[in-house]
Amino acid sequence: MSDVLIVEKLEGRVARLTVNRPEKLNALNGAVRCALLAALSDLAAEDEVRVVVLTGAGGRAFIAGADIGEFKDARPVEQYRRMKAGNIYDAVEAFPKPVIAMINGFCLGGGCELAMACDMRVAASTAKIGQPEINLGLIPGAGGTQRLPRLVGEGWAMRLITSGEFISGTKAAEIGLVEVAVEPGELEEHVMKLAGAIGGRSPVALQAAKESVLAARRMPLDQGLKFESAWFSLLFSTDDMAEGVDAFLSKRRPEFKGS
Ligand code: COA
Repeated sequence: MSDVLIVEKLEGRVARLTVNRPEKLNALNGAVRCALLAALSDLAAEDEVRVVVLTGAGGRAFIAGADIGEFKDARPVEQYRRMKAGNIYDAVEAFPKPVIAMINGFCLGGGCELAMACDMRVAASTAKIGQPEINLGLIPGAGGTQRLPRLVGEGWAMRLITSGEFISGTKAAEIGLVEVAVEPGELEEHVMKLAGAIGGRSPVALQAAKESVLAARRMPLDQGLKFESAWFSLLFSTDDMAEGVDAFLSKRRPEFKGS
């Protein structure tokens, strides 16, 4: 296990990934990106894990952005290669299981972009969230100009990206950047309860759900509906579907095996 990323397997088929550079507010450097890619690859193959929670260590930050130290003297080609090689954003989106961002403090720049690449976001009401790249003479480079307007609409995306202002977790929930904001003391319990509920579901159905919802971004409605109905029909071939239906009709809890 890498010291910049803590990987834990918890009860209820939940894994937690904690970015662990609290002295740098969990800024994303090459080592973190590498460790995240490796952990996601391992967890994708772990049948015991059905849902992942991503968070930051130390209590002050989820992730305060890309490590600005790496920007100094970086040449364009070097920067491009670095981003392609360490594309944790696409890796999270392509990960076959749901990923929940547990936003417990500063969630800035690449941190906000990583949270947006996750499938769900829960924030502490006191979290500070934003895309401050403009202060560096930059724009978001890991999906911020694309995922943010899809979540909050063009106006709010433009405002956050051009002003660099931070908003609270509460405000982020109001505009749809996160789904829920809760009191900081309740964040972990809230997220773990959500993750535990998801972890009890069929992993095949979870993957189908994730792929189908994400398809809505890139497909016109008619194609998306076909994609959904193909997955829906395919799930009729699974033992998990037979188990879910039998459990409902027998008034018992289903035991999904993932086949
Ligand atoms: N990259 C590298 N280091 C970072 C960082 C980042 N994105 N964000 C914070 N840090 C480091 C600081 O340099 C500092 O390190 P040091 O103690 O070795 O000097 C440490 O984390 C603590 O941050 P500090 O700035 O002292 O805390 P603060 O409470 O005064 O301010 C922030 C917190 C988040 C407002 C401020 O750190 C900040 O603006 N960070 C940059 C955010 C950003 O622009 N992210 C997008 C990058 S593209």
